[in-house]
Amino acid sequence: MAEPKTSRPFYRPQAGGELHCGGVSLESLARRFGTPLYVYSANQIAERLAMFQQALAGRDHLVCYAVKANSALAILKLLAKRGAGFDIVSGGELERVMAATPEAAGRVVFSGVGKTAAEIDAGLKAAILAFNVESEAELALLAARARKLKIRARFALRVNPDVFADTHPYISTGLREHKFGVDIRRARAIYRSAAKDRWLEAYAVSVHIGSQIRSADPFGAAIARVSKLAMQLREDGITLKAIDAGGGLGIDYHDGAFDAAGKVEEYAEALNRALGEFDGRLLIEPGRFLVAQAGALVTRVLYVKRNGKKTFVITDAAMNDLIRPALYQAHHEIVPVRPRAGRACVVDVVGPVCESGDFFARDRKLVPVEPGDLVALLDAGAYGMVQSSNYNSRPRAAEVLVEGAKARLIRRRETMADLLATERV
Ligand code: LLP
Repeated sequence: MAEPKTSRPFYRPQAGGELHCGGVSLESLARRFGTPLYVYSANQIAERLAMFQQALAGRDHLVCYAVKANSALAILKLLAKRGAGFDIVSGGELERVMAATPEAAGRVVFSGVGKTAAEIDAGLKAAILAFNVESEAELALLAARARKLKIRARFALRVNPDVFADTHPYISTGLREHKFGVDIRRARAIYRSAAKDRWLEAYAVSVHIGSQIRSADPFGAAIARVSKLAMQLREDGITLKAIDAGGGLGIDYHDGAFDAAGKVEEYAEALNRALGEFDGRLLIEPGRFLVAQAGALVTRVLYVKRNGKKTFVITDAAMNDLIRPALYQAHHEIVPVRPRAGRACVVDVVGPVCESGDFFARDRKLVPVEPGDLVALLDAGAYGMVQSSNYNSRPRAAEVLVEGAKARLIRRRETMADLLATERV
């Protein structure tokens, strides 16, 4: 049974047949592990990483997977084994990397606008590759902690290049009005003053302009500004070893052809072109592009309910399992695991949570489904499970990783005992 090459690892071995991932049917997984269930393809994640590695093969580079997109230990491990580094944004994510793959600590960059002294200490002790520093105050704290622990801190200043990226306002970060980074016009002075501190080593300059950006152009524009800064710093006697271009490359959440490898090549070309004479290392921090399309959220239909003109398909997954549609009006394709014959109708697909915002799709044309049927919400591998919650006291879903013909549970379903464990009456 050959797995066809598409942008998603979910396919039907027979036309109109049951949906599979790798060699396993989603129906068998739902029977074995229950629903709602996150299912990921290890193959696809590895393939996507290889796309970046191949596209950047011509230069010294490191792909630092953005852990926030999906922090499952098994996924971190599979990426680390293939040479990936990590972009983290909290002490918790550092602990995840250390739990999954401690040997990768030297390939970790630490981003985030609100690092605490304890988090900085943990990063210094783990000898991470670099801190992506987001303010002068943070740089001062980093220097103080480094002096105290007598561990030299490598840092990159995260600059704000003032580049507009066309994406959802909640996930756009590269404008001066955003809370991220420091104004690129201030950067030179900050590096110069940091050069006087023997506990600080200016390792790189970093930038991240936002997420789910579909065009390569804004990345090129940002990197052109950043490499210009690196050249100016060289004149000042400060030679940066790396440029960190951040993450943000978008995928296609809609149905239809999507040439992932082509997108990555276009992106790599834009970065390479913009780097110009800069001959140091290139770091990138992709999250979504590596894991989103590798994952689906499999859920069972509980009820089909008609209210006046509207039809609601009520599933056992809810906004607490996948909040992207509710939070960003994000589109996820919804497909039946075993399609039924009949005409498609327009429905709302909703969860059991007591909020009207608890929907996966509104006015969506969907082939007929009946209670008991399974449906898969596609492209849910990034910012799905990691943004889940226990709202309505709903235990969180289980996660399964498919490796070829085998599937294994990488996170068991939460129980009510897990939820109650931290509380006292
Ligand atoms: N690096 C930094 C510093 C970031 O802040 C992010 C994402 C990334 C890398 C990875 O970006 P990616 O390659 O995944 O686009 N929850 C939202 C996305 C938030 C992204 C936040 N930062 C969503 O579900 O669309």
